[in-house]
Amino acid sequence: MSDLKMGVVFWFTGLPCSGKTTLAKKLEKYFKDKRMPVNVLDGDTLRKSSSQDLGFSKKDRDENIRRATHLAKDLSRKGTNIIASFVSPYNEMRLYARENCQNFVEIYVKCSIEKCIERDVKGLYKKALRGEIKDFTGIQDPYEEPLNPELTLETDKHPSEFLIKKIINFIEK
Ligand SMILES: Nc1ncnc2c1ncn2[C@@H]1O[C@H](COP(=O)(O)OP(=O)(O)OP(=O)(O)O)[C@@H](O)[C@H]1O
Ligand SMILES: [Mg+2]
Repeated sequence: MSDLKMGVVFWFTGLPCSGKTTLAKKLEKYFKDKRMPVNVLDGDTLRKSSSQDLGFSKKDRDENIRRATHLAKDLSRKGTNIIASFVSPYNEMRLYARENCQNFVEIYVKCSIEKCIERDVKGLYKKALRGEIKDFTGIQDPYEEPLNPELTLETDKHPSEFLIKKIINFIEK
């Protein structure tokens, strides 16, 4: 976090239903309460807007993250903190995001696949397990665990209220 005029990019990665959006919203509230500029980029939102032409092949997933990276980069250069939450299953593209964004904090939202299947907020695991979705991360598609994240948050072990404090401690230290 070297350049004070730049925003910080907080990049949440993890399996579907691991808790990225839940924690991202709490972090957004932290910045808003402090009257600090913040922008949220969420996979679900982006896939309905600038990435609506993309599917879930490796090529399309990579392109989705490439676009998200450049949005995060351009916005953070204007001084806004960015909260990006994307499954972003491949190390190569997370490295791409890291290399392009000046102040980059990778947050691994870690949760066992069993627990994610149990949560199944959108019913997509059920569909994937029935074979109705063929390229779902964690079922047919791989999720590569982050190699060197700044933070690892285990959402199957701790409540989100505790984990958001870990992020805030990291920011304020
Ligand atoms: N410690 C925790 N941290 C975050 N979420 C938790 C935690 N414990 C339970 N949950 C629950 O897990 C679910 C996670 O859903 P959420 O939409 O945040 O996941 P996601 O990673 O954004 O999924 P997707 O990739 O599909 O967008 C929520 O229902 C949330 O309340
Ligand atoms: Mg989400």
